[in-house]
Amino acid sequence: MYSEKVMDHFDHPRNAGVIQNADAVGTVGNAKCGDIMRIYLKIEDEKIKDVSFKTFGCGAAVATSSMATELVKGKSIEEALTITNKAVLDALDGLPPNKIHCSLLAEEAINAAIYNYATLNHKHYKGLREPVEDIYEDEHPHDALEI
Ligand code: FES
Repeated sequence: MYSEKVMDHFDHPRNAGVIQNADAVGTVGNAKCGDIMRIYLKIEDEKIKDVSFKTFGCGAAVATSSMATELVKGKSIEEALTITNKAVLDALDGLPPNKIHCSLLAEEAINAAIYNYATLNHKHYKGLREPVEDIYEDEHPHDALEI
């Protein structure tokens, strides 16, 4: 049912945890299943120098968080904003149809973290959207260390 890559990222998540001195944080959730995803970013020279996640959710949400952090690490902010849930799904060799919505959480969490950075630093980026998920919280990264 799940690809080997999904199982690998579920069993051995990359970039899991908290970045204590993060420059930005984005938290999103899915009201239907109650799952929550938080992305932390460390940004230097408009590049994502470090990224981590905490996900309170299903296995597919953990695997997509892990893969999404791998895809954005080292990218410029505008490059990171072009990474869609489809790119995350492709990198994981797909998910079952009833789990596709879990990958949207990763795309939204990255967008939300960059939105947080842009708001705090008065910046504008091509492709940045106002977060739309159900439980987006506007918070300062230093106040959001734990879920
Ligand atoms: S079931 Fe909620 S994110 Fe997967």
